[in-house]
Amino acid sequence: RSRGLGDVYKRQGIEEPVPSMPGVFRRSVDKVVDAAREAADLGIGAMCIFPYTGVEDRTEDCEGAWDPENNANRAIRAIRDAVPEMVIMTDVALDTYNINGHDGFVEDGIIVNDRTVEALVKMALAQADAGAHIIGPSDMMDGRIAAIRSGLEEADHTDVMIMSYSAKYASAFYGPFRDAVGASGALTGDKKTYQMDPANTDEAMREVSLDISEGADMVMVKPGLPYLDIIRRVKDTFAMPTFAYNVSGEYAMMRGAGDAGWLDYDVVMMETLMGFKRAGADGVLTYHAIDAAKILND
Ligand code: PBG
Repeated sequence: RSRGLGDVYKRQGIEEPVPSMPGVFRRSVDKVVDAAREAADLGIGAMCIFPYTGVEDRTEDCEGAWDPENNANRAIRAIRDAVPEMVIMTDVALDTYNINGHDGFVEDGIIVNDRTVEALVKMALAQADAGAHIIGPSDMMDGRIAAIRSGLEEADHTDVMIMSYSAKYASAFYGPFRDAVGASGALTGDKKTYQMDPANTDEAMREVSLDISEGADMVMVKPGLPYLDIIRRVKDTFAMPTFAYNVSGEYAMMRGAGDAGWLDYDVVMMETLMGFKRAGADGVLTYHAIDAAKILND
């Protein structure tokens, strides 16, 4: 399994623009390390790794997901070596390794939960072995937090944290991200059987409550901007470390309008990030991080 398009990122010096996310790049591992260094020097404490996998490396069995040598795990080890102060978060879901673009295994057109959870545990353990500090399950399978937590405990990764994507809605705001990781063309159907209905608030509360009882250290609401009410309700109800994911489509809209001269990108971006804080978020996972940190440092 070493001839896929993703192999291009095993070379050096690659920074390929993502067309639907101006300012965001797909990078080879050496360039990811440079980005980590830049972020650390700007005072950013943590970063999240999302791998691109070439179509030829995608299979129905998704074994690339727990390969210690996949691009994500190689990047984690390289950052740990070169930028030891950086906290590294991962993405746990099968989509970028799956031939059909889904976060779970597909059998006869159905997403199968329990077999997927076993694979997600292997994936999380490979990431923890590579040196990840925070495991980020974004798959929305049921029971995966408990399974990953006990997998980590059994493997003596007792200090590795879990940031659960607890309230993740089936959103079209993920479109540019799926372009970035090469999942758009692959995806058959939609993710509505495992991601949440945007009209439902109470379900978010049940999902968050389950994840906390299963052992999540932090919970996340995703997307961010159209779901500020959920962040507020989660924070007020559970008083847990609560994070917002300011997703790719939100970034693309603001960046695109800024580049067109329709609004002042810097000011609108800072206003938006402040909105997350006001809604009760303890932190924001955002593609604006470098831009925002530069402004804050000035
Ligand atoms: C993988 C995953 C997705 C995102 C983060 N992890 C895509 C999806 O669920 O389809 C979206 C991130 C973004 O839009 O910025 N499961």
